[in-house]
Amino acid sequence: MKGIILGGGRGTRLRPLTHTGPKQLIPVANRPVIEYAVEDLREAGVTDIAVVLGNKGREEIQDHLGDGSDLGVDITYVVQGNPLGIAHAVGCCREFVGEDDCVVYLGDNVLKQGIERLVESFEAGAHVAGIALQHVDNPGRFGVADVDEVGRVRALVEKPEDPPSDLALVGVYVFSTDVFDAIDAIEPSWRDELEITDAIQWLLENRGTIDSHVVEGWWKDTGKPEDILDANRLLLEDVDPGVAGTVEDGAEVSGRVDLQEGARIEAGAVVRGPASIASDTVIEAGTYVGPYTSIGPDSRLVGAHIENSVVVGESTIATGERFVDSLLGRGATVESAEGRLPDGNRLVIGENSQLEL
Ligand code: TTP
Repeated sequence: MKGIILGGGRGTRLRPLTHTGPKQLIPVANRPVIEYAVEDLREAGVTDIAVVLGNKGREEIQDHLGDGSDLGVDITYVVQGNPLGIAHAVGCCREFVGEDDCVVYLGDNVLKQGIERLVESFEAGAHVAGIALQHVDNPGRFGVADVDEVGRVRALVEKPEDPPSDLALVGVYVFSTDVFDAIDAIEPSWRDELEITDAIQWLLENRGTIDSHVVEGWWKDTGKPEDILDANRLLLEDVDPGVAGTVEDGAEVSGRVDLQEGARIEAGAVVRGPASIASDTVIEAGTYVGPYTSIGPDSRLVGAHIENSVVVGESTIATGERFVDSLLGRGATVESAEGRLPDGNRLVIGENSQLEL
């Protein structure tokens, strides 16, 4: 079984963060989201992995993951270039996959309980594909599957007005080599992409049975800023506390806090977990870091109150303001303008930034 992780795409919904980097490297609980996909594949016994690269952030992803050995896997890079659809991205991996089956994992998805059971379930039968599903409250917003009593897929519908079930497709799929025939046979959709749901539907109509597996635990597609915050919150629920950093006397730390090497919580600062504070970040006196917050590396917080937020890293936040539900990109600086005239907020805001003041 080979693995394919999709690291291309446009990432339009995550602008401005994706103006400068790929969304798959945005950290949740202080780890780039793509690492969770690599880890899930490895835990399912899949260590021969292709990472598909788009036009954006190619070098960054390769620099970050390297040959995969740090994560215990063997990574091959496949360039897709323009994002012509998920099925197109899979099609680019035909040579890499060869005669094997493959698991496809969307590089911006995170699953709490991994994919071992999906892979086992597919391998136990003679299926042409296997899909992961999850019960959702609002199936009309997803690709939805109609399945029989033993979990075989009867039909797939994209964003149905009248959903046949509440089972949404999660961003992980298992395929036999038949998928490449399907990709050759399907036509681009109205949005000009080769859709993976069309490829699966083609397999269903032309090749054989499609297995499904309902995923336990949460699943998050981190396509939008609020999804990053949700995924961060869900991952921090299970964060391993660790104090590789320093907590000074007079600092108040409670709950589970992952304090990484070189990080420091100074006297007079308050940190309430679950939270993660990455390496070499300093939380100074008068700062409050509240639950469900991840502060990336090499940052400095002076006097801010921040909770349920993600700070990517290399940031300075030196103001008494309160931040909630916020996502700050790498190198973002927020400083107090108090006492400087003319009085008012001073902003240098990039394209597609969002502020709620
Ligand atoms: P999407 O989130 O569906 O697409 P996108 O990245 O273009 O985002 P947006 O809608 O905000 O513009 O993609 C799901 C995953 O698949 C994500 O990790 C990117 C990846 N992908 C590719 O690698 N190649 C592609 O052609 C497409 C469409 C997505």
